[in-house]
Amino acid sequence: MKFSDENLSKLEELKKKYPTTKSLTLPVLWMAQRQFGWISPEAMEYVAELLDVPVKLIYGVVTFYTMFNTRPVGKYHLQVCTNISCGLLGGEEIRDHICQKLNLKLGETTGDERFTVTEVECMGSCGTAPMMAVNDDYHENLTLEKVDRFLQEAR
Ligand code: FES
Repeated sequence: MKFSDENLSKLEELKKKYPTTKSLTLPVLWMAQRQFGWISPEAMEYVAELLDVPVKLIYGVVTFYTMFNTRPVGKYHLQVCTNISCGLLGGEEIRDHICQKLNLKLGETTGDERFTVTEVECMGSCGTAPMMAVNDDYHENLTLEKVDRFLQEAR
């Protein structure tokens, strides 16, 4: 496990901007997830070694933020918000609908590795609730019809 040359160069640039390597934890973990797809235990050890910080610190950060995947995810990672605004406007119904359509339980990935569904806390898009993130894109003002359209197009 090793960062690409491009990511290693980015790391060197980041080191010039931050006072300590510990303060690079979030951007470097994000870099790791972009390159490896998820943050495996090996990736945590690698990042800890690169930043010269304890692995337990990296583990704590990775498991605190839902944006870090602690297991492999499908091509489309559907992160459905069910926090207060989304919940009041049908977020839980949307979550259940997606799970039913894909025949998945939360956290699972379809056999063709196309879809993973997770439930997340507020993603800061309350004004356009209910919403879900699909990878880096927000799908807002969701309805069951919009969800169905997305799933059909993404199949
Ligand atoms: S409650 Fe869903 S984005 Fe804020």
